[in-house]
Amino acid sequence: MSTPLMEARGLQLRFGRVAALDDVAIDIHPGEVVAIVGESGSGKTTLLRVLSGLMRPDAGAVTYRGEDVLAMPEAARRRLMRTEWGFVHQNPRDGLRLGVTAGGNIGERLMAVGARHYGNIRAEATEWLKRVEIDPARMDDIPGKFSGGMQQRLQIARVLVTRPKLVFMDEPTGGLDVSVQARLLDLIRALVADLGLAVLIVTHDIAAARLLAHRILVMRQGQVVEEGLTDRVLDDPQHAYTQLLVSSVLAA
Ligand SMILES: Nc1ncnc2c1ncn2[C@@H]1O[C@H](COP(=O)(O)OP(=O)(O)OP(=O)(O)O)[C@@H](O)[C@H]1O
Ligand SMILES: [Mg+2]
Repeated sequence: MSTPLMEARGLQLRFGRVAALDDVAIDIHPGEVVAIVGESGSGKTTLLRVLSGLMRPDAGAVTYRGEDVLAMPEAARRRLMRTEWGFVHQNPRDGLRLGVTAGGNIGERLMAVGARHYGNIRAEATEWLKRVEIDPARMDDIPGKFSGGMQQRLQIARVLVTRPKLVFMDEPTGGLDVSVQARLLDLIRALVADLGLAVLIVTHDIAAARLLAHRILVMRQGQVVEEGLTDRVLDDPQHAYTQLLVSSVLAA
């Protein structure tokens, strides 16, 4: 077994009376795709935010390659966010700069890690637009002119261009039409395999978890109630809540 890329133990976070995280533990190994499923309000987004250092837990520990994420100076955490980590937001507008062209959205991330040569940046942006199936002729358009699915693909290009090792995705296909979702999932699956990314993906969609994830964590009321290999969890769920989740999908 490889050493985990990220490890968290004993995470606790309360909002008033609500325990958004109640003693959560998670490991993510290099190249592993882990899906977090669970009902609305179960703490999925909070977990991503805490792991990526966007929010501080009340208690617990998070390490990235053995380094204490919670003790890291803000500048070091921001550097990880620009380089080794990526965050794909459910709403692409939260992950894009809307006043900047599509090419600029990709180029900006490259410049943040030190790229300076205009021609190279533009060439790489062209390459990434193609990879996410956006016509490079749209390079100089602003994201507002794109459809929701295109905006999400652009956000993914912006995140992946710097070749992060660990990517957090919060319902990346959330607001999209079903046909657009399927295509985006295929694209995510291909990119993840190709780049050998470790991914922590939050999804309501059991079929998406089945397609993408090696492992599944089921959350309910701030707790991980079940976890295991994807096929085991979905084909032989042990916890009553997971059984309900899986059977409600089959019935739908
Ligand atoms: N900033 C906040 N202030 C107060 N309460 C919050 C805050 N963020 C989350 N919560 C509460 O914490 C709980 C977990 O919220 P979270 O957003 O993590 O759920 P989720 O599983 O992502 O839900 P959804 O599937 O609807 O996105 C909820 O009860 C929510 O109302
Ligand atoms: Mg959420």
